Amino acid sequence: MSEPKKLYIKTYGCQMNVYDSERMSEALGGQGYVETQSPEDADMILLNTCHIREKAAEKVYSELGRFKGLKAEKPDLKIGVAGCVAQAEGEEIMRRQPLVDLVVGPQSYHRLPELEAKTRAGEKALDTDFPEEDKFEKLKNRPKAKRGPTAFLTVQEGCDKFCAFCVVPYTRGAEVSRPADRILHEAQDLVERGVREITLLGQNVNAYHGAGPDGDMTLAGLIWELNKIDGLERIRFTTSHPNDMTDDLIEAHGTCEKLMPYLHLPVQSGSDKILKRMNRSHTAESYLRLIERIREARPDILMSGDFIVGFPEETEEDFQATLDLVEQVRYGYAYSFKYSTRPGTPAAERPQVDPQEADDRLQRLQALITRHQREIQDAMVGRTVRVLFEKPGRLAGQMVGKSEYLHAVHVSGADLSAGDLRNVRITASGANSLAGEVL
Ligand code: 5AD
Ligand code: SF4
Repeated sequence: MSEPKKLYIKTYGCQMNVYDSERMSEALGGQGYVETQSPEDADMILLNTCHIREKAAEKVYSELGRFKGLKAEKPDLKIGVAGCVAQAEGEEIMRRQPLVDLVVGPQSYHRLPELEAKTRAGEKALDTDFPEEDKFEKLKNRPKAKRGPTAFLTVQEGCDKFCAFCVVPYTRGAEVSRPADRILHEAQDLVERGVREITLLGQNVNAYHGAGPDGDMTLAGLIWELNKIDGLERIRFTTSHPNDMTDDLIEAHGTCEKLMPYLHLPVQSGSDKILKRMNRSHTAESYLRLIERIREARPDILMSGDFIVGFPEETEEDFQATLDLVEQVRYGYAYSFKYSTRPGTPAAERPQVDPQEADDRLQRLQALITRHQREIQDAMVGRTVRVLFEKPGRLAGQMVGKSEYLHAVHVSGADLSAGDLRNVRITASGANSLAGEVL
């Protein structure tokens, strides 16, 4: 029997890419590949890339440069670029970095086996089409291997919102929802393989409107269906747009027992002038009112968000409005970024903010967010949370899991296995995690 070929995949960017990398690995598994953790052993290297900010895209080229030596030693090594840089730059990647053999966009992963065969025949392979067929349906034959207790499941891809700064509508294409029965089938299969928590993924996950038995189903409808699956204990979803937070979804946060009290709801800015220029189609006020309603439904919900500072024409006053909004919401987690110009997006044409000023604002915003994050985490001490244990911690006899609020929780000296769900009393709050004891 011949040795299996080895595949090294490196994943950049969002959770959708993590999910896609798993699917690509399975697709190439059918071609006799097994995954390796080291590029030196690989017969194929795949970079699953992110194009959301300039730095993310540049990293790909510097990483590719590092593989030059490997390819010289091992001429049969194939190098592929997948993900959003592949979609955005296509053939340009092969021109800029001739050692690349394969370029495949996020909508074409089901064609990987053919593309791989083409590279083995000594040709370059490129596919960045937006085909009609459901790539996940074509990739569905997951091997029945046992899995860890948490998994991602992509239910929706693409975005029709066209925020003025964002490349996603161009790289991931128009919004498409997968039919509900396929998602439920995949969820059932994950649960049979040991998964107890599923995070539904989509660039605009709450805009989900997949075909169901009685017409289109909303995300809330899908969550209620998932809620019925025995053995599935927890449901999460990310990332949401404020304008798609429908009444049924808000209500589900109050009444659906498996839906976790955590919501990632990016606002990007607290200034109405900037929100308008960002083409966000909500105001700071409408966002705050929405959060009020969500908190009425689920008072202990932990909010998370995304922010961009230094968006074109953002003044100090606009930035102060963002700080004000953050003060009002008090996020348990938040991701803040300095605006990064993306060629081809409308904001790229607007007058840019001085980079040093933007750096300064980013630091001030992050300091405030970190303070809230820390206060919220510290306030967990003395409370009892429910923890889904995932893996051993760094210390001997320690296990780590996540609370319903997504805080990492360490427990030592208890007889625990991955997949256990236990009540834990929180005894201490550290830099990025909590410690507790099993009750
Ligand atoms: N510059 C900076 N941040 C961006 N994001 C998206 N596009 C850009 C950009 N051009 C951020 C947004 C989004 C998150 C995934 O990345 O905050 O919610
Ligand atoms: Fe990008 Fe806006 Fe769509 Fe989010 S909603 S993916 S930020 S265009």
